[in-house]
Amino acid sequence: MNMLVVEDLRAGYGNVEVLHGVSLHVDAGEAVAVLGPNGAGKSTLLRTISGLVAARGGGVRFEQRPLTGLPAHGIPLLGLLHVPEARHVFGQLSVEENLMVGGTPLPGRAERRAALEEIWALFPMLRDKAHAAAGSLSGGQQQMLAIGRALMARPRLVMLDEPSLGLAPVVVEELYLALGKLRQGGLTILLVEQDVQVALGFADRAYVLENGTIELEGAAGALQEDRHVREVYLGL
Ligand SMILES: Nc1ncnc2c1ncn2[C@@H]1O[C@H](COP(=O)(O)OP(=O)(O)OP(=O)(O)O)[C@@H](O)[C@H]1O
Ligand SMILES: [Mg+2]
Repeated sequence: MNMLVVEDLRAGYGNVEVLHGVSLHVDAGEAVAVLGPNGAGKSTLLRTISGLVAARGGGVRFEQRPLTGLPAHGIPLLGLLHVPEARHVFGQLSVEENLMVGGTPLPGRAERRAALEEIWALFPMLRDKAHAAAGSLSGGQQQMLAIGRALMARPRLVMLDEPSLGLAPVVVEELYLALGKLRQGGLTILLVEQDVQVALGFADRAYVLENGTIELEGAAGALQEDRHVREVYLGL
C-alpha cells in the first residue's frame, strides 16, 4: 500500500520556487531516503509534507487522506511525525519532560508511561539522563531525544531530516541500530541524509533530488552501483 504519496508538489519561499513538481511515494513498512546536494530542497520537501511550508501546486496524501491545506499541528495527530533538521529539544526541560511533551496526543497517563518505557528500552542512555536538562545532552543524545519525542506519539511514519549531521561515526552507528529496530517493529521511515553511504546502506529505496526536481530513483542497491551517484555522492 502507498502510505505516503507526493504528487507533482510545488513549494517555495517568497518569489522563489524551490520544489518544481516533486513526485514520490513511500509504502507501509519501507525505509526511503531522499538524497541530494545542499540547497536541493530536501528540507523544504519534508516541511511541505508536514504543512510547515504551503504547497503551491500538486498534493500530498497520507494513508489516502489529502494533507494539503491541513494545519501543520493537525498532521502529527494523523500519525505522520517530522523530526526537523535542527534538533529543537526543549533545553530547559528534563529528558523525561521532553518525552512527555511528545506523548501529549496519547489518550491518557498510562499510555504515556507505556510509550515512555519503550523509549527507555530503545535508548537506554536517555533513561540514565531522565532528569538531566535536555540542553546538557551531547548532540547524539539530543538527536535520540528528538526522535524519541516524535515516537512518543506512536506515529506510523516518521520523517527524519539529516539525523546523522554533526555526529561522530560511532554515534551514527548507534543511532542507525535503533532506527533498524524501529523499522523491524513496523515503523515506516522517510529519511533525508547527507551521509549517502549510510543512507543507501539503510534504506530500501532512494530518490535523488537536485534543484527541486527528482533526478534519479531506484532500489538502494541499484543506486549504489549508479555511475552518477558513485561519482557525485560517493566520491568513487
Ligand atoms: N526559510 C527560508 N526562506 C527562504 N529561502 C529558504 C528558506 N529555507 C530554505 N530556503 C532556500 O530554499 C532552497 C532549498 O533549501 P532546503 O533547506 O530545502 O535545501 P536542503 O536540500 O535541505 O539543503 P541542506 O542539505 O543544506 O539541508 C535553498 O536555496 C535555500 O536557500
Ligand atoms: Mg536540509
